[in-house]
Amino acid sequence: MNTIYLVGFMGCGKSSVGKLLSKRLEVPPYDVDTTVEKQRGQTIKEIFRNEGEEAFRNYESLAIRQLPLEHAVVMTGGGAVVREENLLYMKSKGTVVYLKTSFPVLWDRLMKEEEKKKRPLLLTNSREDILELFNKRSKLYEKSDITIITDHLTTEEVSEQILLELHRFNS
Ligand code: S3P
Repeated sequence: MNTIYLVGFMGCGKSSVGKLLSKRLEVPPYDVDTTVEKQRGQTIKEIFRNEGEEAFRNYESLAIRQLPLEHAVVMTGGGAVVREENLLYMKSKGTVVYLKTSFPVLWDRLMKEEEKKKRPLLLTNSREDILELFNKRSKLYEKSDITIITDHLTTEEVSEQILLELHRFNS
């Protein structure tokens, strides 16, 4: 099995779906943000603060290329597709699955204190800025191999949908 890459905006459920999906597929999950944090010995927030977003994007692009190409589920960060070559790389090596969630649902989730704290972009941008980012990135996410509309689905249901779509995509 080639690697499955989960993409989508912050708060769309990549981490929880990725963990469950990896269990169902009996392959290990890899989180790009966690990989970068381990490699750099800093949290994402610290990298943004100490080195800036561009440096983070370099580390993120590198980490995507270091993770296994087979028998894995990879959860990317919401901005991983900003460098379109990352999206092209993931599509060429595996199957890219977009967890599509509407902006109001995402915003409600992201405004929870513990979610806000983890994400540097939410500290320095207004709702309008984040909405603009969402609209810009949505065009890139839409280029994924498979899209799952997650608004009214549980983590289990999203995982089930992905398994069904993967079956269809690979046959
Ligand atoms: C980012 C999303 C975050 C993390 C970083 C930047 C983004 O990941 O990579 O804070 O640019 O959207 P999540 O999508 O897991 O929150």
